[in-house]
Amino acid sequence: MNEFIIVNHFSDLDIGAQELVMKAREALAHAYAPYSNFMVGAAALLDDGSVITGMNQENAAYPSGLCAERVALFSAYALYPHVKILKVAVTAQKRGETELTPATCCGECRQVLLEFENRQQTPIEIIMQSQQYQWIKAPSALSLLPFAFTNASL
Ligand code: THU
Repeated sequence: MNEFIIVNHFSDLDIGAQELVMKAREALAHAYAPYSNFMVGAAALLDDGSVITGMNQENAAYPSGLCAERVALFSAYALYPHVKILKVAVTAQKRGETELTPATCCGECRQVLLEFENRQQTPIEIIMQSQQYQWIKAPSALSLLPFAFTNASL
């Protein structure tokens, strides 16, 4: 499957995607986001069935913080260096609100996802909320980063 899948309700996602989104949602409760108050959670499903989560980690020196996706990706490879990442779900919530708010992966996270995708030679599906109630499944990091810079250029 090489296409974007866009659904207009969370319940229209497949069960596997819904479960991963729920894990990402649980993770955002532990976001450290005192500066933006924008809490992001990510969950990575590995090839052995493990799920590794991450949440944004902000810093008083703003650029020293890290996005939820990269926290999850780097944790996954730190804990299970030989296990492929199959899917990543991303969720966000503004502090004080109860509903999720749309958030798609930033450019830097897309670049890191692509590096892992190339490293493991297997695409990573990315599930994220693009608009209120609308969810996207991207088939790969490459699909989110056309004309990307990769190790092939070095
Ligand atoms: N953030 C993420 O964690 N992931 C993204 O893909 C977009 C942005 C975080 C970074 C920062 O802590 C907060 O959201 C506001 O930009």
